[in-house]
Amino acid sequence: MIRVLASRWQGSVLVCGKCSKKLGGGFGDKGRTPLVKLLRQALGVKKGRKADRGVVEVKCLGVCPKNAVVVVDGAHTGRWMLVPAGTEADEVVASLTGTGPA
Ligand code: FES
Repeated sequence: MIRVLASRWQGSVLVCGKCSKKLGGGFGDKGRTPLVKLLRQALGVKKGRKADRGVVEVKCLGVCPKNAVVVVDGAHTGRWMLVPAGTEADEVVASLTGTGPA
């Protein structure tokens, strides 16, 4: 039997954890903050199904860019993003919501 759990997620974002690890974080003031943490702070979400949005660190997605992190917006799975190290949180959030530069 498959059980179903309720979730408050209105969307999801997948962030490659291996890319982040290779950069030693790569974001934030000191360049040591992982992108998943930066995004959670910028979007004001926590971990788990009770958050408004899922921001989840995943294993290697098979793209493995240099000096960037692969991000997949659950609302636009046909368009993966390679976020360069050091990109400001606002810019990443804007591209996720579709209001910023593509
Ligand atoms: S290391 Fe991130 S896609 Fe492979």
